[in-house]
Amino acid sequence: MTLDDLDTPTLVIDEVVARQNLERMAARAKARGFALRPHTKTHKTPYWARAQAALGSSGLTVAKLGEADVMVAAGFLDLLIAYPIIGPQKQRHLARLIQAGLRPTVSLDSREAADSLEQVGQMTDSVIGVLVEVDSGFHRCGLPPGPAVADLARYVESLPHLRWDGLMVFGGHMSRERDPVVLRRLVHEEDEVVGTLVATLRSSDLSPRIVSTGGTPQAACMDEIQHATELRPGTYIYNDVATVRSGAAAWEDCAATVLATVVSRPDPRWAVVDAGSKALSSDGHPDGGHGAIVGRPDLVVTRLSEEHGILEERAGGQVDLAIGERIRIVPNHVCTAVAQHDAAWLIGADGALTVLPIAGRGRVR
Ligand SMILES: Cc1ncc(COP(=O)(O)O)c(C=O)c1O
Repeated sequence: MTLDDLDTPTLVIDEVVARQNLERMAARAKARGFALRPHTKTHKTPYWARAQAALGSSGLTVAKLGEADVMVAAGFLDLLIAYPIIGPQKQRHLARLIQAGLRPTVSLDSREAADSLEQVGQMTDSVIGVLVEVDSGFHRCGLPPGPAVADLARYVESLPHLRWDGLMVFGGHMSRERDPVVLRRLVHEEDEVVGTLVATLRSSDLSPRIVSTGGTPQAACMDEIQHATELRPGTYIYNDVATVRSGAAAWEDCAATVLATVVSRPDPRWAVVDAGSKALSSDGHPDGGHGAIVGRPDLVVTRLSEEHGILEERAGGQVDLAIGERIRIVPNHVCTAVAQHDAAWLIGADGALTVLPIAGRGRVR
């Protein structure tokens, strides 16, 4: 079977490239003395979690308890849940996972979330590790790097079923950076903020055992990181337009593409393919476009509707694709693209195609 035999649109993963990406990151993190706790939100599969574990990852990261269900069922019991546990449904869900053997660490940024997690500890008669999340500029979750961090760490320590393990930062704004020099500077600046915070905590008798920092762009600049103990990259397994544009990866490092077929040529200036936002996701990029077409830098996906992608020539000329021709598109944001598909096709080193179920797909709770 070859790619020509596959129905489209479909997600295709180059296994050799993905393995190289995993191996390179594992080797670099090991050489620099960082624990590696890959975020599974990108691949969402026990298949790749096993490969990451075989390469020495210290555990895995998930965002959602539904993703944790998939990983726990596959035997991964050391998970960072990088998300606060809020509400009785989540409390009962986490309790069930702990009863099934999960040893979670949970990130949080409020007393409310700490109280909620304490109740889970009570329900399961267990002690749960906590990382206090600190905002390093993404302005999503996380306390500002000031006295509130120490206050919350002390509060966590005062609760009998929680253990304060340290800090988590996620500079998600760096994912959209387009200048590798600026990226390096941002990683350095984040590290300085973290270093100052850790020194302040230490001076008030709070020593974080874990300082977990995130992301593929940050990990690409790990030489700039002095004050974290752990890295949580996710996108690095497949890479995408955003990681390439940030300088964190090269086009050859992009392992995941959406295979699409040209279905209509209503005008010489554009071609229509069968991959729309339901195959590629609608995540944009500051440089514009909805993905990069493999081998065709002259073309750009200018528009998406749910089931259609519109391809145009960058310079505004005529598009030379015929109806029935196939193209491969590197998504802007591979994590949300993968999450559109129940399964991917893995192309092995020998060119053989096998199905890779995306078991964590749809696990948004
Ligand atoms: C908390 C957290 N950690 C780590 C990551 C992984 O980052 P990246 O996708 O840049 O590898 C993410 C991505 O969304 C995240 O939200």
